[in-house]
Amino acid sequence: MSPAPRPSPGTEVVVVLDFGAQYSQLIARRIRECHVYSEILPHTTPLETLQRLEPAAIVLSGGPDSVYAAGAVTCDERIFTAGIPILGICYGMQLMSKVLGGAVTASAKREYGKTQLQVVERDGLFAGLNDELICWMSHGDAVTTAPPGFQVLASTPNTPVAAMADRRRKLYAVQFHPEVAHTPWGMEVFRNFLWRECGLEGKWTMASFIAQAVEDIRVQVGDARVICGLSGGVDSCTAAALVHRAIGDQLTCIFVDHGLLRQGEAEQVVATFGHHFKVPLIHSRAQDRFLARLEGITDPEEKRVRIGQEFIAVFEEEARALGKVDFLVQGTLYPDVIESGTATAATIKTHHNVGGLPERMEQRLVEPFRFLFKDEVRGVAQELGLPDEIVWRHPFPGPGLAIRILGEVTRERLDLLRRADAIVTEEIKNAGLYRTIWQAFAVLAPIKSVGVMGDQRTYQHTIVLRAVDSEDAMTAHWSRLPYEVLERISSRITNEVPGINRLVYDITSKPPATIEWE
Ligand code: XMP
Repeated sequence: MSPAPRPSPGTEVVVVLDFGAQYSQLIARRIRECHVYSEILPHTTPLETLQRLEPAAIVLSGGPDSVYAAGAVTCDERIFTAGIPILGICYGMQLMSKVLGGAVTASAKREYGKTQLQVVERDGLFAGLNDELICWMSHGDAVTTAPPGFQVLASTPNTPVAAMADRRRKLYAVQFHPEVAHTPWGMEVFRNFLWRECGLEGKWTMASFIAQAVEDIRVQVGDARVICGLSGGVDSCTAAALVHRAIGDQLTCIFVDHGLLRQGEAEQVVATFGHHFKVPLIHSRAQDRFLARLEGITDPEEKRVRIGQEFIAVFEEEARALGKVDFLVQGTLYPDVIESGTATAATIKTHHNVGGLPERMEQRLVEPFRFLFKDEVRGVAQELGLPDEIVWRHPFPGPGLAIRILGEVTRERLDLLRRADAIVTEEIKNAGLYRTIWQAFAVLAPIKSVGVMGDQRTYQHTIVLRAVDSEDAMTAHWSRLPYEVLERISSRITNEVPGINRLVYDITSKPPATIEWE
C-alpha cells in the first residue's frame, strides 16, 4: 500500500467518525464540497490517533444501533472534552447526548422521510435559513432532554430536540440528515458549522490537491521508474496525467489494447497521452491474442477469467521489457479503500479491471486517489486539461464489449456492436442526456429475428439498448428516455448498421437485473 497522500501540514482536516451509517461517505463529500478536506475513520479510533491528524472538527455519523442497546457502538468518549468542535448527526447526536448527560428515549413513533422542522434558534447552525424547513429524518430513538449547557435549536412534531448546541464548548448536533439531497438546505448546515462556528477557511480545492499530490509523488518515487496501465477510463487516465506532471518521463504508460473497447476509444487514448501530453506510451496491440483466447467461449465468467489472465500476461510482458521499474500507478478510489476489509457480498460477477494487477506485480504502488471520490477525480482531470470525452465518459467494464456480446466474441460481432454503440452514445449526447445518465450502451443479443426491408425478408441480429440512472452502480433504475430519442436510436441503428434489423429497450432495474448483461 502506498503512503497516504494526506494534505500538507496546515490544511484543515475534518474527521467523520463512522458508526456504521449508510451515509458516512456522503457526509465526507458534503464537507469536501465546502472545500474542507475530510476523512472517514472508524468509530473505534482512539483520541490520540485522531489528535495526530489535528482535526479542525469531528462529525459523528448516524448508525443503525440504539445507544442503549447491549453492545451499541460508541467512540472514545474523551473526544467530547478534548476541545475539538463536534457535529453529531442522528445516532451521533444521541450518543453525544447520552455521554454528556441528556436523555434519549425510544420514540413512540418512528420518524422516517420528509419531516417539518421548526427552527427556534436561527443563529449558529441555522443562520440564514427559514424558521420552517423540510428535513429528512430516519430514526427510532430521539433526544428528549438536551444535556446540561445545551440549547435546543429546532424541533419537529415528534422530536422536541431535533437540533441542539452548546456553542461555548463548540458541540452541535442534529437529528435529521443534512447530508442527503432530501434535506435541500443541508449544505447550509455544513457551511454554518464549518465556516461560521469552527471558523474554517475552506481552501481545499482540486488545484491544491494537485499541488500536494505532485510533491508527494516526487518524494515517494525519487528518481525511480514508474509504469501505469491505461484503460481509457477516467481514473487511470487522470492518474497517469497527474503522475506525469509530477515526474515527467520517469513514467511510462502501458495501454493494453484488447480490441474490446468502444469506437474511437483506443485512438483517443493514444492521441491524448502519446501526442498531446507526450507521455512515453506503449500501445500494445493485442487484439488478436484476446480474440484467440475468446474463440468458442460463450460463458460470461469464462470470458472474464480469460480476458483477465491475458491482460495480466500482456501487461507483464510489456513491463518486463522495460527493465527495472520500481513503482506501479493505480487509480484506486476512496470508496474502495473504505470498503476493502468490510464483508463482501456474494460474487455476482468477478469484476476484472486493472486493479487485478498488484498481487502478481513486484512494484510498489503509487495511488494518488486513495482519498478521492469519483467526482473529485473528474475535477482533477478537468484541472489537468484532459479532454471532456475522457473526463465524462460513462463507466465501462474491464472486459469491455466482450461482456456485451452474448455468446461468442468474434471480430464481426465486435464490429456490429461497436457501430451500434457509437450511435447510442451520439444520440444520447445530442439529446443532452449523456451527463445525467449513468450508463447508456448497446448489447448484442444472441437472437436473430425476421424483418422486412424494401420488399426483402431479412433474418438478422437484435440489439438491446440499455440505459440506466444510478448514483454508484449498486442499484440502478432504467432511464426514462424520451420516445423521440428511442425512435432516433432505433431508426439509425437498423438503417446504418447492416446486419441489425431489430432494437429492443431493456426496462429492468437493478436489482433484479444487473447493469451489464453478462
Ligand atoms: P453490474 O453489471 O454488476 O455492473 O450491475 C455494475 C458496474 O460495474 C461495471 N462492471 C465492471 N467493471 N470490470 C469492471 O471494471 C467488470 O468486470 C465489470 N462488470 C461490470 C458496470 O459497467 C457497471 O458500471
